Amino acid sequence: MSLPIFRTKHIFSHEEADHVLKRCLSAWDLAFLGIGAIIGTGIFVLTGIAAATQSGPAIVLSFVIAGFACAFAALSYAELSSSVGGCGSAYGYSYAAFGELIAFIIGWDLLLEYGISVAAVANGWSGYFNNALTAIGFPLPDVLTKAPRLGGLINLPASAIILILMVLLIIGVKHSAKANNAMVFVKLLSISIFIGVAAFNVHPDNWHPFMPFGWFQTLPDGKTTGVLAGASLVFFAYVGFDAVSTAAEEAQNPQRDLPFGIIVSLSFCTLIYIIVSGLLTGVVPYTDLNVASPVSHALTLIGFNWASALIATGVIAGLTTVMLVLYYGLTRIIFAMSRDGLLSSFFNKINSRTQTPIRVIVICGIIMSLIAGFIPLGDLAELVNIGTLAAFVLVCLGVIVLRITKPDMERPFRSPFSPLFPVLGILSCGALMAFLPSITWLRFIVWLAIGLIVYFGYSIRHSKLAQTA
Ligand code: ALA
Repeated sequence: MSLPIFRTKHIFSHEEADHVLKRCLSAWDLAFLGIGAIIGTGIFVLTGIAAATQSGPAIVLSFVIAGFACAFAALSYAELSSSVGGCGSAYGYSYAAFGELIAFIIGWDLLLEYGISVAAVANGWSGYFNNALTAIGFPLPDVLTKAPRLGGLINLPASAIILILMVLLIIGVKHSAKANNAMVFVKLLSISIFIGVAAFNVHPDNWHPFMPFGWFQTLPDGKTTGVLAGASLVFFAYVGFDAVSTAAEEAQNPQRDLPFGIIVSLSFCTLIYIIVSGLLTGVVPYTDLNVASPVSHALTLIGFNWASALIATGVIAGLTTVMLVLYYGLTRIIFAMSRDGLLSSFFNKINSRTQTPIRVIVICGIIMSLIAGFIPLGDLAELVNIGTLAAFVLVCLGVIVLRITKPDMERPFRSPFSPLFPVLGILSCGALMAFLPSITWLRFIVWLAIGLIVYFGYSIRHSKLAQTA
């Protein structure tokens, strides 16, 4: 049984899809799929950066706040995935709710979300990889592990791992639900080891002061700090729950199981994040956590080198799958947009030998590898977040619009208290966007402007809708 996110044929051949796609994913498989895609650099790396520079021990509150915004968005996702159907993703839903232009904008946003996420997770991967090399006596010099803005030359491991994944995807790596479940197990085992060790080594003094940076402030250099700014950074830890909705065609009972998978995976991860971030800031002072591998680092600081090494190994394996899921998701969205005529058909050519879209894989791989090598993790994560939050706002809006325009559509799952919950989703995700620094907004606006140029310069005339009009 292979997951749709890794199934090249699923998106590249409808004829084959007819007999390849089996409705074999149970509700729990979907929940595991979500957990596999969600837990990654956010909790293993950004927690440390956010605690040290934005939230302090109140990082726990940052996770709760970001979790609430995601919960409202998740309920909207659940409603649309159970009613609009299709192969899922916000791109497909927004086509149904708003038509082509907004669908294009969401798709363009998702390219940012998935593409930059891969580069960001590669940065997290690199931190733990270097931590492992250091442990066995072969540390890489700073110039090869840091972006230029952080005093290095290039983050070489981050760049290299993306190129390695690129080769794997070109040769058509297949992934199974079993392998995904195994990876989830490894990640959860790493987290359990951390919790098991940290729970007995908490020094409550470390939780004081609880909110050293306050709720929110903008610093002279334009950066933001405080618990709310921390929430808009650690929001990255939740990115990926939407991947569950892309499994719609393989779910045994999508109407019932997709909402279950989305909501269970999100709730579970929220709980884990609260426990881990609470313990992390309890075992060492938050000021010690601004490092590339904070979870391992904290255990090393309190003398548990064996646990630190085990966790680093689990994280290296776990983050590899997150990258693979996101990288594949990226090629899938580009393929869908290209199939709909919104992007050039250049992108939907399949190599006849490998049966994979080599062009897309290579172009994306090279661009992401460069981004991962030269831009620091914090900047990348904020950019991912703003794009993802914008997509969430539109998904929540989509629920409201479709309730008005298609009141009779069958809705096996309904977001409760609509329009209240979707409105709360729009407000909370919008607020998290507002807490991001102005430079991130500028980058996002530039990205959207490029998107609009592409849409009005190309897509509007070449889209399938335009051809049939
Ligand atoms: N949520 C995923 C992570 O934290 C993207 O790595």
